[in-house]
Amino acid sequence: MNLHCRVNEKEYDLEIKPHMTLLDLLREELGLTGAKEGCGEGECGACTVIMDGKAVNACIVLAAEAEGKEILTIEGLAREGTLHPIQEAFVEIGGLQCGFCTPGMVLSTKVLLDDNPNPTEEEIKKGLEGNFCRCTGYTKIIESVKVAADKVRG
Ligand code: FES
Ligand code: FES
Repeated sequence: MNLHCRVNEKEYDLEIKPHMTLLDLLREELGLTGAKEGCGEGECGACTVIMDGKAVNACIVLAAEAEGKEILTIEGLAREGTLHPIQEAFVEIGGLQCGFCTPGMVLSTKVLLDDNPNPTEEEIKKGLEGNFCRCTGYTKIIESVKVAADKVRG
C-alpha cells in the first residue's frame, strides 16, 4: 500500500506493507533510529514520536495511520546543528544515563511544554508517566524538564 506523510519536515511517498508499524517504518525504512524499541507493547515509551502534535508510541501505531500526518522524531528536533533547548537542558543537568529512554523523554517533554510551558513537578510527572527509565534516573530527568521549561519560556 502507498503512504504519504511528512517526517521531520520532509515529504515521503512510500510503498509499505499494511501491517508495518510506524516504529519499523522510521527505523528500518527511513534510517531514523532515535526512536527505540523497548517493550514493543506500548508500555515503556522508548519509541515515542510526535504525530500531529501528540506523543504516540510508534511500536503500536501502524505506519498506515501516519497517512497525511506530520511526524517529528528526535532527529528533527535540533536545528542546523544547534540542540533544541530541551535537549540542552538534558545535557546540562545530566538527565540521562544510558540514553535509551532519552529520545522518548525529550519528545514527551516537548509535547508537555508545548501545551503547558510552566508545569508543576506533579504535571511533569504526569506528562512523563508513559516513559520508563530503566536506569531510574528520574530525579535528574524531572530537573531537566524544569530547566527546559525555563529555557523554552526564555
Ligand atoms: S517500545 Fe513502544 S512503548 Fe515500549
Ligand atoms: S537513561 Fe537509561 S533507560 Fe533512561
